Amino acid sequence: MHILGIDTSCDDTSIAVLKYCTESRKFHIKSNIISSQIKVHSEYGGVVPEIASREHLKNIRRVMDMALKTAEIVEDDLDLVAVTAGPGLLGSLIVGYSFAKGFAVAKGLPLVTVDHIKAHTAANMLAPYEINYPAVALTISGGHSSLSIINEPTKAEFIGGTIDDAVGELFDKISRHLKLPYPGGPVLDKLSREGAPKIKFPRPLINENNYNFSFSGLKTAVINFMKKNPDCGIPDLANSMTEAICDVLLKKTGAAVNANKAKTIMISGGVACNSMIREAFKKYGEKNRINILIPPPVLCTDNGVMIGILGALNYVEKGAAGINNSDVYPTTRW
Ligand code: KG4
Ligand code: ZN
Repeated sequence: MHILGIDTSCDDTSIAVLKYCTESRKFHIKSNIISSQIKVHSEYGGVVPEIASREHLKNIRRVMDMALKTAEIVEDDLDLVAVTAGPGLLGSLIVGYSFAKGFAVAKGLPLVTVDHIKAHTAANMLAPYEINYPAVALTISGGHSSLSIINEPTKAEFIGGTIDDAVGELFDKISRHLKLPYPGGPVLDKLSREGAPKIKFPRPLINENNYNFSFSGLKTAVINFMKKNPDCGIPDLANSMTEAICDVLLKKTGAAVNANKAKTIMISGGVACNSMIREAFKKYGEKNRINILIPPPVLCTDNGVMIGILGALNYVEKGAAGINNSDVYPTTRW
């Protein structure tokens, strides 16, 4: 079965073609095209929603043509269309959804709408071996930081998330404060490699007996430190801040693993590209003998592959009638 996966939830126009074998339950990525809008938004220091929608509108057909061409298939070879319906920026979502629905109706194809956050986790379903459940899923992106329990591939039970800023937001806001380019995560990641954890920043909510995160207090602590110590080096600052983030993420994820006797940890979302976070979780996995799944960086940030995976799994499980998406519309919250 060939699936077209479309994501336009934020500032990337992403379309992928996947092949799914229902017998072996294996996915094969045939193309993964991402048209980034970073250049357009960088002069504003962050994503401008109206500009993002217009860019999606301008690019989406071209991205789709490239996805089909790279996959060496034609429109008529497709069997299913999967699209993000939320959460995200409303205008951006509407462009992807309308395009997907129009295409699916014109071609008589089933359309499945997908939750963007659950789809991030689904990028881990490309693992080349059987995944052991239950799994704890940690999704860390520009807009979300959440923990869920996964008992089977299509079912996620949310157990906690950020009560204020998301982790990616913390990276982006600190970077903007330092007048570094947007998005801040990759820049601070690179700089942190040259620094050391010399500054002791707070670890918000680390000792609270729940699965919630709070990164706004850490952001304030980092900004206050910079004001009092204007000559502190950015590498040490970035390294110390990321170490505080790692400690909080590991503690909460570890608690969820223990409470649910989880056999696997699945990490996803743009912030899962972070080299210190990847290393910290790999070390945790080795020490605690638990399987750690983190997609390659290109599948951590927004992409159409993850949408295609979750869409296909939902479709195979529920069938055309079960997906019943005719009354699902784009939504900023899922
Ligand atoms: O998942 P994503 O592409 O979009 C959302 O769904 O939000 O995540 C984007 C976020 C941005 O905040 C960006 O700064 C962050 O992921 N990010 C990183 C790294 N690469 C991207 N954060 C830390 N370290 C990185 N290497
Ligand atoms: Zn995302």
